[in-house]
Amino acid sequence: MAEDLHIATGNKTEQYQSLIPQVRGILEGENDLVANLANVAAALKEQFGWLWVGFYIVKNNELVVGPFQGPVACTRIKKGKGVCGTSWAAAKTIIVPDVEKFPGHIACSSLSKSEIVVPVIRDQEVVAVLDVDSEKPDQFSLVDQRYLEEIVELIQF
Ligand code: SME
Repeated sequence: MAEDLHIATGNKTEQYQSLIPQVRGILEGENDLVANLANVAAALKEQFGWLWVGFYIVKNNELVVGPFQGPVACTRIKKGKGVCGTSWAAAKTIIVPDVEKFPGHIACSSLSKSEIVVPVIRDQEVVAVLDVDSEKPDQFSLVDQRYLEEIVELIQF
């Protein structure tokens, strides 16, 4: 497939609906995990321009930062800590409209104002989380939850 991403305009649903078949194309026939996580993070960053998009991977009972796009981030997060560790512990997507109001939020970048974290679940275990941060407050909704959950399902772990 061509490596160029077609950047869609329109509302968020339209943007995700344009992006998802392209993500499928990128992942098709490739089973290298780092390559796939890197390209998914890049595709999301290119389409939506968010501050930070990336993966934390469960390793030895900690989250360790994986492929991402954006400013340098904290390397390790413990279970139950921050938004990422809370999403891992609960095995649920967490939407944070205002990071300052989330108790225990880990501020990797002071520019981050809102956040969504989606767990990647395989065989009933959280194996990673997808973390997305925006410089603007209240940027994530159930639309993002639905499509980001769909996108992480496409990745072969
Ligand atoms: N804010 C996250 C930490 C990761 S960075 O935002 C990239 C958290 O509270 O878990």
